[in-house]
Parts: sequence; structure tokens; C-alpha cells
Amino acid sequence: MTDKLRIGLVGCGGMGNEHLKLIARIPHVSLVGVCDQREARAQRMRAQHQVQAWLDYEKFLDEAKPDIVHICSPSGLHALQGISAAERGIHVLCEKPLDIDLKKVDRLIAVCDKMDVRLGCIFQRRMSAAAGVVQRTIAEGGMGRILSCSVSVKWWRTQHYYDKDDWRGTWALDGGAFSNQGIHSLDQMIWLAGPVAEVEYAHLETASHQLEAEDMGIVVVRFANGARGTIEVTTCCQPDLSTRLEIYGTNGSAALQDATVVRFGLNGEDLMHTLPPKMEQTGGGSDPFAISLAGHDAQIRDFYAAVREHRAPLVDGREARPSVELLTMIYAKAFPNIKLGV
Ligand SMILES: NC(=O)c1ccc[n+]([C@@H]2O[C@H](COP(=O)([O-])OP(=O)(O)OC[C@H]3O[C@@H](n4cnc5c(N)ncnc54)[C@H](O)[C@@H]3O)[C@@H](O)[C@H]2O)c1
Repeated sequence: MTDKLRIGLVGCGGMGNEHLKLIARIPHVSLVGVCDQREARAQRMRAQHQVQAWLDYEKFLDEAKPDIVHICSPSGLHALQGISAAERGIHVLCEKPLDIDLKKVDRLIAVCDKMDVRLGCIFQRRMSAAAGVVQRTIAEGGMGRILSCSVSVKWWRTQHYYDKDDWRGTWALDGGAFSNQGIHSLDQMIWLAGPVAEVEYAHLETASHQLEAEDMGIVVVRFANGARGTIEVTTCCQPDLSTRLEIYGTNGSAALQDATVVRFGLNGEDLMHTLPPKMEQTGGGSDPFAISLAGHDAQIRDFYAAVREHRAPLVDGREARPSVELLTMIYAKAFPNIKLGV
């Protein structure tokens, strides 16, 4: 690998555009190519970033020869595109979720291991230092036995949002509110409370939009450590209400709004003043791109450092997998006959 990391990106839509703005600000890297199957989008990024553009993904990998590829394509393409890159020895930084098909996620992790390339998944809320303190406190037993962890994601998406890109809300490439909007909170709850052993109840439905998958749902889970929780996710809530996670154990409790810790105490003492300053991260409650990019920036920089230092990134494939596993369990409970993925 040369001194400057060679960066490529597939998927020049909304999120790809945001990644490209961030990549341009990072020193010692060079953007060597972008790829999008829609010619107009590929050409627009070519003009904006003065970089070569490809329509065909495999050709792009072979000709641009990046060290790292950012995958910002529809969620159901992530694992197969990641596998193609990893098989060529290219490191993979993937937007959330790692994929919507757990079997493909496992293949992606296995190929990355075999080829000794780094695999990262963007879950930007994990970059909040204050949330990290809460997570470590829980992991070290400071909150006692965890009794409950619940999340609520009450967001709004217009019908136009689902109509404007043909992959949105489809079982093949996206899934619904749980896999697209809710996945951040599924990851966050597993990060804090540990793996989910069982989805005890799941009611998902398409309530107020036209899409194949769900736009609202309520789920009850039992964690492997015995704790209980509920997960409520919707894109039907206008105006959108905040994204909330609440967790409590025998010795304390915490509440997070998006990535921001808004309540934290142990043994009857309020510990909010002990937390590091908050990182500005908002959640895209009504507009997917009305998010601050501080978390993305931190995660991309960590991933580049992980490649240079030959270490795992902060959110690697194994860290990102349990959210897809939980998603799979929820969909299996609610829709036993649905096949997710291409
Ligand atoms: N981390 C976050 O907060 C966040 C926010 C929004 C989106 N995302 C994720 O980013 C990903 C992309 O979402 P988006 O909103 O940018 O979607 P988008 O539709 O705006 O962009 C996707 C792009 O991929 C291109 N594409 C589709 N198939 C392709 C193929 N086979 N080869 C090359 N290009 C192909 C499309 O033409 C499109 O330009 C999704 O997985 C989504 O979950 C993450």
C-alpha cells in the first residue's frame, strides 16, 4: 500500500455524497474513483470531485484499484459488493446495515477474515464519548444487573421518500422502518444491554405509506442476560418525536436521545456532570440527510487509522452483525414467510 490511502466509493446518492464531502477533508488519502449504476449520478460526482467514475462495480474495483471502498449503495447490495472488494484484497467500509441478509453478512465477515482486510460498518452514534462511558460502565457491572432496555424511534418519512428511489421499502434491497431507520437503535441497544436471546412478540405493519415492508411496529424482547425490552419504530410520526433509548439496572439508569446521553446516574447519584462534552449528532427524524456528520467523520478517520495500523476498527463486522441478527429475528417473528435480500 502506498503512503496515501487510495479511496473508492460505490453509491453516489444521498449518503455517498456525504461520505465524499468528508473524504475530501481527510489528509493523506486520495479519492481514486466513484461508481454508480445511474450515469447522471456518477457523472455528477465525477465533476464535483474531479475523479474518474464507473457505472460497473467490478470494473471500477479492477481499474480504480482502491485500498478501501466505501459502500453507500442500497442495503441489500452491501454484502455482495463487500465480498467482491474483499476478494480483491480491498478493505471495506460499509454504510449501515452490513446487509439485510444475515447469511450474506456471515459470508462477508468470513471473506474479510480470510483475505485479512478490515471490515467496518457505520454506526455513527457509537462515536459519542459520553455514550461510550455509559457503555463501559454497564459492561464493567457499574449499573448492576440490567433489568430493562427499550428504544423508541418515532420518525417521519413522506410517501415521496419511498417513491423516489425504487429500492426503498422493498424486501429485496431495504426492508422497512426497522431495517432502515430503526437499525441504529437496534445496534445501540445491543451495544449497551448485550445480545437479544428471544423476540417474544412482534407486530409490524404497513400503516400509512405504500411500500412492501413495514412503516411501524412494536416488538418485545428478552436479552441473553435476562433483561426485558420493547422496540417501537415508525416512519409515520409527524412531527417526528425524538429517538430515545432507556436502560436501567439494579444500580442505576441512563437515557439517550440519538447519540446524546440525557440522563445518567448510579447508586442514587446524578452523574451527568462527569460525562465528556456531547458530540453534536442529530438523528434525521424527518429528513435522512439533516444529520450532523461528526459521527461519520470520526468513524471514517478511525477506519483509515485501523487500515494503517492493521487493527480492528471501532465498529467491525462482528460488532455490526448482531443488529442484523436481531432484525432477522424480528422479521421472522412478524412475517414468517418473507424472504429478505436479493
Ligand atoms: N448512517 C446513516 O445515518 C445513514 C443515513 C442514510 C442512509 N444510510 C445508508 O446508506 C445507504 C444508501 O442510502 P442513500 O439514502 O444514500 O440511498 P440513495 O438511493 O440516495 O443512493 C444509493 C445509490 O446507489 C446506487 N446504486 C444502486 N445499485 C447500484 C449498483 N449495483 N452499483 C452501483 N451503484 C448502485 C443508486 O443509483 C444510488 O445513486 C443505505 O444502505 C442506507 O441505509 C445511512
